[in-house]
Amino acid sequence: MPSFKSGVLGVGALALALLLRSDGAEAIRPVNPQVVKLAAKKATRTAGHAKRATPTFPLYNFTQPLDHFSDTGFTFQQRYWVSDRHYKPGGPVIVFEAGEGPGDERMPILDTGIIDILANATNGLGIVLEHRYYGKSVPVLNFTTDSLRWLNNEQAAADSANFIDNVTIPGIKGDITAPGTPWIYYGGSYGGARAAHMRVLYPDIVFGSISSSGVTHATVVDWRYFDIIRQYAPQDCVARIVQTVDEVDTLLTRNNHTRNAIKAVFGLSGISYDPDFASLLSSPLGAWQNRNWDPAIDDPSFFDFCEALGPLDNATVTTHGVTISNATAQYANYINQTISLDCPVAQQDECFGSITDPESFSQTDLSQTWRLWNFQVCTQWGFLMTPPPDPATPRIISKLLTKEYAHLTCTLSYPPGEHFAIPAWPNVEDVNKLGGYNIAYDRLAIIDGEDDPWRGDTPHSPDPRAHNRTDTTIRPFKLIPTAVHHWDENGLADPSAEPDFIQTIHHQEVTFVTEWLKGFKPPSAH
Ligand SMILES: *[C@@H]1O[C@H](CO)[C@@H](O)[C@H](O)[C@H]1NC(C)=O
Ligand SMILES: *[C@@H]1O[C@H](CO)[C@@H](O)[C@H](O)[C@H]1NC(C)=O
Ligand SMILES: *[C@@H]1O[C@H](CO)[C@@H](O)[C@H](O)[C@H]1NC(C)=O
Ligand SMILES: *[C@@H]1O[C@H](CO)[C@@H](O)[C@H](O)[C@H]1NC(C)=O
Ligand SMILES: *[C@@H]1O[C@H](CO)[C@@H](O)[C@H](O)[C@H]1NC(C)=O
Ligand SMILES: *[C@@H]1O[C@H](CO)[C@@H](O)[C@H](O)[C@H]1NC(C)=O
Ligand SMILES: *[C@@H]1O[C@H](CO)[C@@H](O)[C@H](O)[C@H]1NC(C)=O
Ligand SMILES: *[C@@H]1O[C@H](CO)[C@@H](O)[C@H](O)[C@H]1NC(C)=O
Ligand SMILES: *[C@@H]1O[C@H](CO)[C@@H](O)[C@H](O)[C@H]1NC(C)=O
Repeated sequence: MPSFKSGVLGVGALALALLLRSDGAEAIRPVNPQVVKLAAKKATRTAGHAKRATPTFPLYNFTQPLDHFSDTGFTFQQRYWVSDRHYKPGGPVIVFEAGEGPGDERMPILDTGIIDILANATNGLGIVLEHRYYGKSVPVLNFTTDSLRWLNNEQAAADSANFIDNVTIPGIKGDITAPGTPWIYYGGSYGGARAAHMRVLYPDIVFGSISSSGVTHATVVDWRYFDIIRQYAPQDCVARIVQTVDEVDTLLTRNNHTRNAIKAVFGLSGISYDPDFASLLSSPLGAWQNRNWDPAIDDPSFFDFCEALGPLDNATVTTHGVTISNATAQYANYINQTISLDCPVAQQDECFGSITDPESFSQTDLSQTWRLWNFQVCTQWGFLMTPPPDPATPRIISKLLTKEYAHLTCTLSYPPGEHFAIPAWPNVEDVNKLGGYNIAYDRLAIIDGEDDPWRGDTPHSPDPRAHNRTDTTIRPFKLIPTAVHHWDENGLADPSAEPDFIQTIHHQEVTFVTEWLKGFKPPSAH
């Protein structure tokens, strides 16, 4: 997969870009108005430029109804890619849920990642299935609130079920639909939650699922995301961040002199709404999630940021009429160089503002793909990022980043339509009623990463409501040590070159899927 650095990003957007994956705005990520704005600007700049995709696997369409639950008379084409390099008749289908991004960017997973690994081990047919509204599987003419109303978990699950139940694949002889053929459904992150949901909702046609870093617990407020980074990132670096955040919060609220001074220190005097300023300061933290064991797709910028903060010291610096710690001065210097310098003070509300620049959230043409995952956040998933509820817990983000602030991305982006209005707060119960932290089923594997900031929303959450489980073949429950976000998803052409702990999880996945398949009997054989 190309790294985010190859994307078309304007100068000055670098630090913000750290929050975006190669597929731009559509990645699951902390909700942050600046990220949304950056994505909106990027979309506008690149509108009309076709995404250069070089699929190395044949691409097909599958016809889906726009609405599975009431007849609108409309259909759309859902894209999928097929790898038959390991397939032998009678083998299973291993399907990858492409989730909240274009399917064509998932080709490496079909080529050398977990789909190829499992297909190789089982004589399976590998498939990447694009999610409705993403990539080119777009059923509507624009992304207004009304047009987005068929983008929800229930429609997406019904798409996959219809596909598994009814697909015929050009060039593949015989019937490979379920339940005559065993289907193994793999997904990571949001896709991981989808994989778990598919097993629970359609157990008769989804033979087994692997939910990797699956965010099966939806939550309006997600304070664990940044708290996990605080606990697992290098502690000297964390101490510098905690000190800066505390100092900035104090200066912002002490009086107008200190408030203006601290913004000036960061080169951001032009941001008038304080939470926008505080939010921008959290931008470098998103890079924690973008790390990978494979150097070719790793984003090392979290460590660049830490290096810029320097080692622990007790020095102070007096500037702009305030005395600040050297930690804050170094943090300010980093923000200055990566963000502030590229947007003149007079334009900073336009560059970085939320309520001070509502216009930037209002475009609805099909290039505004940032509207898709955000819509899912605002309607069913939540994950509004805040500091920990207990004020005694150290924080690496400002206390100004309330859920009300994060929720501005919802109210500014999705005004009520004629047919649909987003709920006052995300309806997370739609997700959690399927099991949440404790979602479980035979042949549903739960794989998570120990250092993953999303772990708080997975069955491996430290939340006391998440029950500990025993890891068994029929219900695998595995935590990959030191891993961040779905680190089992990608692989190398030469598996022996993967780090040992990645070879181990791949081997374990092959083992349990192979064991599962031994128990498969087509319905006629019952
Ligand atoms: C899939 O459907 C789209 C939209 O109708 C069409 O433009 C495209 O050519 C189709 N692709 C294939 C491989 O059939
Ligand atoms: C494919 O499977 C064979 C054994 O079934 C194994 O020797 C080989 O290493 C596998 N290849 C990959 C790329 O995993
Ligand atoms: C969005 O598309 C619908 C048709 O699907 C159309 O009725 C509506 O006017 C469009 N709105 C905008 C703002 O383009
Ligand atoms: C498969 O297609 C048939 C015929 O269109 C339809 O009735 C059925 O609901 C589809 N299966 C699923 C799971 O949607
Ligand atoms: C501080 O600044 C705010 C916003 O610019 C202003 O409304 C307020 O009157 C100022 N307070 C004082 C004490 O000057
Ligand atoms: C950041 O840039 C601003 C504007 O150029 C400057 O006033 C401020 O001192 C700089 N801060 C640091 C820590 O270098
Ligand atoms: C502040 O930290 C930087 C980076 O570690 C260091 O180079 C600088 O000397 C420190 N400043 C003071 C006043 O100690
Ligand atoms: C900072 O000050 C504390 C308390 O005065 C002291 O324990 C610590 O060693 C100092 N740290 C450094 C890096 O000088
Ligand atoms: C969860 O249970 C496993 C054994 O089933 C045990 O090894 C592990 O320490 C437990 N974890 C926690 C956090 O209690």
